[in-house]
Amino acid sequence: MEFSSNLIKVHLANYLANLPLPNSIVGIFKLGVKDIVKLIPFYATIGGVCYLSYRVIKPKNPVNPAFKKESPKVVDGFDIEELAESTAFCRCWRSSKFPYCDGAHTKYNKEHQDNVGPLIIKKK
Ligand code: FES
Repeated sequence: MEFSSNLIKVHLANYLANLPLPNSIVGIFKLGVKDIVKLIPFYATIGGVCYLSYRVIKPKNPVNPAFKKESPKVVDGFDIEELAESTAFCRCWRSSKFPYCDGAHTKYNKEHQDNVGPLIIKKK
């Protein structure tokens, strides 16, 4: 415990105190090459910690938000002869009539700046 305490309180504190951190954004342009090189590990560490934190806490965004969630896999099959002359199948997973399209993709596309649409099967 003493080792880690000493590492943080003495060595880390000394390291941070000796970093050539500029007092303003403009100060970055006044730094020399040696100062910039000294800052690279510091900013790389900050960036790495931020990236790993984002990876851990970023919200999960499943393709299928609600349909048959109790099932390990959603599979639907159809007899083509039983379909109407033209049938639209949902590909956005937001339809209340899933697996058929009910137009919910329009709202989804507006909210997510996306462009998904249905799969339309037509009989000859
Ligand atoms: S409602 Fe999902 S593609 Fe139309």
